[in-house]
This record gives sequence, structure tokens and C-alpha cells, in this order.
Amino acid sequence: MAISRRSSASDPGGNALPKIVAKPPGSASRRLANELAELEPAPQFGAIHGVAPIAWSRARGANVVDVDGNRYVDLTGGFGAALVGHRNRRVVNAVNRASNQLLHGLADAAPHPERVKLASELSRLGPIKRGRVMFAGSGAEAVDIALKTAHVATGRQGVVAFHGGYHGSGLGALRATSRRRFRHPFEAALAPATLRVPFAGCFRCPYRLTYPACGTACLDAAVAEIDAWNSDDSRPPLGAWIVEPVLGREGVVVPPRGYLKALGEAARERRLVVIADEILTGGGRTGRWWAGGPLKPDVVTIGKGIAGGLPLAATIGRRSLMRVWEGEGEARHAATFMAHPLAVAASRAALAEIARRDLPARARTIGKLMKRQLGRVARRHPIIGDVRGVGAMWGIDVIGDAVTGAPDNRIAKALSAGLAERGYLALAGGPYGNVLSLTPPLTISERQLEGFFPALDDAVAEIARR
Ligand SMILES: Cc1ncc(COP(=O)(O)O)c(C=O)c1O
Repeated sequence: MAISRRSSASDPGGNALPKIVAKPPGSASRRLANELAELEPAPQFGAIHGVAPIAWSRARGANVVDVDGNRYVDLTGGFGAALVGHRNRRVVNAVNRASNQLLHGLADAAPHPERVKLASELSRLGPIKRGRVMFAGSGAEAVDIALKTAHVATGRQGVVAFHGGYHGSGLGALRATSRRRFRHPFEAALAPATLRVPFAGCFRCPYRLTYPACGTACLDAAVAEIDAWNSDDSRPPLGAWIVEPVLGREGVVVPPRGYLKALGEAARERRLVVIADEILTGGGRTGRWWAGGPLKPDVVTIGKGIAGGLPLAATIGRRSLMRVWEGEGEARHAATFMAHPLAVAASRAALAEIARRDLPARARTIGKLMKRQLGRVARRHPIIGDVRGVGAMWGIDVIGDAVTGAPDNRIAKALSAGLAERGYLALAGGPYGNVLSLTPPLTISERQLEGFFPALDDAVAEIARR
């Protein structure tokens, strides 16, 4: 029924199909949610995405088992953190071994051997030649480090960021994050130094143009806004342009071919430090180790899946830029748990898994299947306005009106709930809350994926009948 607790031949290894024994959320999930609501502000764990909270009890590979005994296939991939699968055996073994050596590594004051090895591995993998690495405990902190690096290196605090960009919710990263809901109460505290420009979102093109006839007019518009800002002396000068090579949380938006390269060139012409935020896309999710290669970035952030489920992120930058952190005395950026030994061990094992199993190639295979099968489902159901993605990163854009294409988050939430009832976990996100986002573990089996498309078709058909 559920995933075995034992690591034995009977352990399905996380490749099992769903099995629902109690309509989710079951009574145990509901009870836990109610208890927690007394202890934490409810939205922290609640029905943010429309699905009433399903309390996870354990997970392996692409399977999650809830406290009511339901087994799911997790298409959220734990928000992308389960890139090499939940509780990947090699990651778990590495963490167990490390826990016999060191549980704390004194952060910036005392390097431990595994940290040195991981820094060297990340530096070699990075799209930046001989890049230098700084460790962080979360994606938001890695973004903070990137923004701080650009600020000190250029002496300019202004940042160009995208409408629809998500870079974390700490007060630093929030400067670049776009959604009003996240920023609104803090607007006054956020430096008025962010220029927000439109991304290349072709499905809802703000200019109502069509690619390729448009000639990526959105990039021309963004560059024109940068030039206008730069010619206004009352504005804080711009020092960096932060880019998710594929918008993730805000609706999975893949820019057209050539866009990132042209963006990188435009940024360099304006002496902007190019920051590729690859927290979600890095590590092979899009079918390549890095999605932002064409940007030729100066700084890259990486997190989520590169530590096999443990909290670790990193910022990798050009040597010349990262020099800003050198100098006598205490580190200017530090954190108690920086390069935590267990997270470092997990990360080394996760990187080895990505290489050993050639997971970027696996992501490309997943991408082909998604494109074909999601396209098929979308053609049958007018409430699916668009399916888009690359590799193992896809979005299903749910609309309420086939003529206007208006986003409909109510239907998206119902679809998310309908999928959970069929044993597939996928949450609705995006600026309008109407895009079901699929970021499964790259280790998901063919059978698990193939089972998803009829479940989706069935769940959409049920909603259409209502
Ligand atoms: C592109 C991107 N950057 C940064 C972050 C923030 O990472 P964290 O949640 O680890 O702070 C996220 C999280 O979803 C992300 O997708």
C-alpha cells in the first residue's frame, strides 16, 4: 500500500503508481492542519494553492505518502528540491556517513574538507570559468549575495528585474521579486532602486504581438526603459540585471530562442552585472546543466535540488567580481550554518547522482513526453489555454474563457484538488494563481509519468462537466 520503511528488495524505490485509500485531505491530514493552525499562521502550510493541506509522512523517489496512507506521485518535486528524487538512497547514505563526522562546521571561520570539495565541484560545473563560490542556506540568501556582490563591485545599487520574477522573500531578494502580494507591506522598506521590465511571456504578450514576427519587441522595450532610467540623474544608477532563464514560480515562462543571448549582450553594453538565478533551473532540470548559458552570466545562483533535499544554495561569480568579498577581518557576509556539513555531503551526493544517471538527458526525455501528451490533453479541453515548458519544468495555463484567454485560478485550484484525488500532486501558481506547475523529480519513472496524463484528462473532464 505505502512505501516500505525498510531499505530492502521490497522497497519500490519511489517508482510506484498512486494509491488513494482516503479522499485527500484525509482525516489525519485535516487534524494536523487544524492543530498547526493554532501554532503557526495558517497560510504557512494551508490551502495556499487551493488544495487543502495534505500532511506528508514520508517520501521516496517520486512518491510521497501522506499521514492517511495515500500514496501520490509528486509532480511538485518538493518545489523542485527533490531533483534527484525524494530521500535518494545515495544522498541519505552520504548524510548518514557525514553525521558520524561533523554536525557543525563553524561556517566562515573553519573550512571542512567536504566543503572544499563541493566548492571545487560547483566552480568546475558553473557556466563561469573558474568562478568563485559562496555558500548560502537558502535561495533567497544566495540572491542576496548576488545582489550585494553586484552592488559593491559596480558601486551602483539599482537592479533591473522582471515582472513575474521570483527570487525569494527575504528583504534583500524581495527587491527583485515581483509579486505585489509578497512586496506590498514592505514597499517603503524596499529600496526604490528596482526597475521592473516585462519578460518574454508570449502567451500573454503585453504588447499583443506574436513571435517571431515581433522581433522580441519586449526586449527592445525593456532596454528602452533601462536607457530612459539611466538618462535620469534622479534615479539610483543601475548595476545589475537579474534573470530567471525560465520563469518558474510565476507561471513557467520559457523565453523564445535567442532572447537570453540578446539580453546578455544588451546588459553588457550597459555595464550591468548579469545575474542568472538558476535556483530552480540549475542542475539539469531544463535538459541542460544550466539554462542560462546564453546569457553568459557574471553571477549565478543555484539551490533547491542541488542538495538532495537539504537546505543549501550557492552563489558562483566571476573571480574579478567576487574579489569584493576579500579583505582583512571578519567575513562581510556570513551565516552560522553556512556550508552545513550534512547539506554539503548531501549536495556532493546529489551532484554525483546527476552525473551518474545523466539526469539532464532524462529531463530532455521527460520534456518530449510532456510536450506530446500535455498538448494532446490541451487540444481536448478548452479550459487549458496553454501548455509550455522545457525539460522537466512545465506549466498548464488554465483559463476561464477560451475567447479572451482570461486566467482562472478557481478552475486551476479545482484541478489541483482533482489531481490529488487521483494521486498526483501539482500546485497552482503564477501571478494569477492559474498555472499548474510541474517540476517532478528527474528520476520519475516512465510509468508514473504516463499515468499522469489520463488522470489529468479525467480531472479536467470532470470539471468541465460541472
Ligand atoms: C528562481 C528562484 N529564486 C529564488 C528562490 C528562493 O529560494 P528559497 O525559497 O530557497 O529562498 C526560488 C524559490 O522558489 C526560486 O524559484
